[in-house]
Amino acid sequence: MPIINRMAELHDEITAWRRDFHTMPELLYDVHKTAAKVSEMLRDFGCDYVVEGIGRTGVVGIIEGKNAEDGPVIGLRADMDALPIEETSGKPWASKERGKMHACGHDGHTAMLLGAARYLSETRNFSGKVALIFQPAEEGGAGGRAMVEDGLMERFDISEVYGMHNLPGLPVGQFGTCTGPITASTDEFNIEIFGKGTHAAFPHLGTDGIVAAAQCITAIQTIVSRDANPLDSLVVSVTQVHAGSSHNIIPESVKLNGTIRCFSKETREFAARRLEEIVRGIAAAHDVEAKTEILTGYPVTVNHESQTEYAINVANSISGEQNVDGNFSPMLGGEDFSFMLESRPGAFIFMGNGDTPGLHNSAYDFNDEAIPHGCSYWVRLVETRLPA
Ligand code: NI
Repeated sequence: MPIINRMAELHDEITAWRRDFHTMPELLYDVHKTAAKVSEMLRDFGCDYVVEGIGRTGVVGIIEGKNAEDGPVIGLRADMDALPIEETSGKPWASKERGKMHACGHDGHTAMLLGAARYLSETRNFSGKVALIFQPAEEGGAGGRAMVEDGLMERFDISEVYGMHNLPGLPVGQFGTCTGPITASTDEFNIEIFGKGTHAAFPHLGTDGIVAAAQCITAIQTIVSRDANPLDSLVVSVTQVHAGSSHNIIPESVKLNGTIRCFSKETREFAARRLEEIVRGIAAAHDVEAKTEILTGYPVTVNHESQTEYAINVANSISGEQNVDGNFSPMLGGEDFSFMLESRPGAFIFMGNGDTPGLHNSAYDFNDEAIPHGCSYWVRLVETRLPA
């Protein structure tokens, strides 16, 4: 069963919504215009009820199928927020907001879930209820967690939850997912090394944090290469170095910032502990003080086994088995749908965006050709999981 005909009919209309969202990117929780528009559209489509302000600016629309009171409720989630990037796509629908753009395709995710809402409201060819979840602040603000903490799952009695993200490089019409971890935990670290500043001509009168920092940067590499099990995926990257103000001054302090990404709770805890130990040891060796701060980010996104199987079967029915990779390689990017999967069983799937610039690139644009595939996936998932 390929793309649903009605979704193909609605393709132009959903494309217009998508491009409209693209012109008006909003950041983090400040998605007021987008959320208002989403709510208005859901009401127009005939959603049974629409609740705004969940997790600050999240929106949930409920569509009741047949025997709505008996059946389970499944949640479908899209994200609404954009990124602080100056757009260079040159598209006619490019951002009208300076320094903000939909560089991760959340405009497409929102439009596709609205397309599915329109269809499901019209047809209601399912039992139970569907909760359409539109979340704010996916890009670093943990909007998914805010919605879960605001009682998302309990308030709407959601028993399973599904998420989807577009992926440049994967051809349009293809899907990829896997059981278990699919995206990584994303913690950040700040290291500050305090030496004793001095004239660069008299290093013996101070203690040099720069030399200690250089050793830290090198030694941190051994967390992955020597400490971690080689079969375990782990990234520890130092991404910022800040120190000094002149050629002839040894500075008072040095700052190192970076990120830790992996696929298990154990590796996550271990890497953070080793980082702190290495920095403390090197600081002692160089007679400087050091402070390591770990900023806890998103948890690992872990797909549940049976829900992933449903997701694969649905994708197969839309695109054909040859276009669905059910053993997709997980990636070390982060995703705050992880909070929803910690709260309820479910599955996250990637959908091809074709040969476009990458996510978070200033030239990126969501590929509108993917719309009927994504919408059909949502609709068929509901009709298969909640048969009428
Ligand atoms: Ni994204």
